[in-house]
Amino acid sequence: MSRAYYVTTPIYYISGNPHIGHAYTTIVADVLARTARTIGPTFFLTGTDEHGQKVANAAAAAGKTPQAWTDELVPHWKALFAAYHVEYDDFIRTTQARHVEKVQRVFERLRERGDIYRGKYEGWYCVYDETFWLESKLVDGRCPTCGREVQWISEEDWFFRLSAYRDRLIEHFERRPHWVQPRSVYNEMMAILREGLEDLSISRSSLHWGVPIPNGGVIYVWLDALLNYITAIGWSEDATRFHTYWPAQTQLIGKEIARFHTIVWPAILWALGEAAPELVFAHGWITVDGQKMSKSLDNAVDPFMLAQRFGADAIRYFLLREAPFGSDFSYSEEKIAQRRNSDLANDLGNLLQRTLSMLQRYRDGIVPPADVSRSELGRRFAALHVTVRERILDLRFREALEGIWELVTALNRAIDDRKPWELHKNDRTSELNAVLYDLCEGLRRLAIMLAPCMPERMREMWQQLGTPGRIDEDWSVSLRGWGGLAPLTQTALAAPLFPKMDAVAPT
Ligand code: MSP
Repeated sequence: MSRAYYVTTPIYYISGNPHIGHAYTTIVADVLARTARTIGPTFFLTGTDEHGQKVANAAAAAGKTPQAWTDELVPHWKALFAAYHVEYDDFIRTTQARHVEKVQRVFERLRERGDIYRGKYEGWYCVYDETFWLESKLVDGRCPTCGREVQWISEEDWFFRLSAYRDRLIEHFERRPHWVQPRSVYNEMMAILREGLEDLSISRSSLHWGVPIPNGGVIYVWLDALLNYITAIGWSEDATRFHTYWPAQTQLIGKEIARFHTIVWPAILWALGEAAPELVFAHGWITVDGQKMSKSLDNAVDPFMLAQRFGADAIRYFLLREAPFGSDFSYSEEKIAQRRNSDLANDLGNLLQRTLSMLQRYRDGIVPPADVSRSELGRRFAALHVTVRERILDLRFREALEGIWELVTALNRAIDDRKPWELHKNDRTSELNAVLYDLCEGLRRLAIMLAPCMPERMREMWQQLGTPGRIDEDWSVSLRGWGGLAPLTQTALAAPLFPKMDAVAPT
């Protein structure tokens, strides 16, 4: 098998119910995976991070064993992804035997190679971020990442020689200036590297909930968690499969975990003799009143409620369209409603309704033949999908949607300018056929290009257009040249794709 497109999301701590911020990364990964599948083999991994003190504490607070607690919660996460039409290829749980065994193997390998040693850890620990902190890094005595209280830890642990990889990391960053994006995160990581690296404690001798280490203690939850990206694809077990996917093309993360993914993670991989991922992209946060949305800050928005209220596809669209990927953006139901009403109901939904009702009225719902070589719209937009796909794979989702909206606007304008009702009244048959054909072909192309972003609604649009074949076929076939829609196709006007909603008052 040749190389495939491999995209991953962070695996989520299962310390409570998910919020829309968790759905965000996985939705973006789904859009990428759906787009990559229009080119070739693709693998999309997501899952849950189930070990560590944070999860153990949450389980204890609920009066359950950690295993029972995580078993109970995993279905909520899977239901969340299903509610947002996410089609992952694999869902890994760090408590699964397939993962645990390989994490133990990693530990053995690191020990054999002399990359780990026994030492005493004395310092601070943030349970929320599962992160060790030196005294000098604390801000007002609190965790510099999340601002929460830290606890003092003093124990015998295993250490990974992270400091030994500093020069190689710096060289890697310098040689591949785009491997960490956006630039702001790259710069931040470079600054950390320049400042110097401490070795990393990779075990917790006082904790029981984790991957056990021979002679006591468990593996530090972050080492355990990072390894999911390779344990899921057969590392140390099936070399062919592993090398089909690794190194991953795109690892998506939130910016707060960039240090683990761009400094610790490559060093661990190198210690195992494996390559670093091609790209780690650290996106911004969904914020509420300027603060990161988070369960424990009590500002988390229930993603199930959102999907029900606005429609999962409208939320997907909002998340991709609202801000450039990489920037923070604030959560606002008013803005979601606005986007849904203006972009989706007015621009796109109405376009479909108007087109199919005119086609119904003038041509019994049947797509007429037309001379596509003379289509102005065809000349302008036949290659749009190439740009769109490039932008999506480059993680410029907003720009991709803006590009697609140029076609939406042009089609709406074609109706206003070419006035099919007058062409009909004046018996200008070939002109009427030409505009109706253009509109239907334009809509077909929109359905295909928007399917990665709004899979359910676009499938409905596809059905209304009556088009044979699959919406998610290879784009170079289905979008080759303006004119892929077969004349005489019978369309079927149905209910509006995005019924208009009442405006939502500003909060
Ligand atoms: N378990 C670790 C990751 C281990 S990966 C080897 C972890 N989990 S988490 O549950 O805290 O989820 C982290 C990820 O959820 C973030 O990196 C980000 O992708 C996503 N988000 C959580 N809250 C978010 C927002 N408010 N906004 C955007 N994304 C958010 O860290």
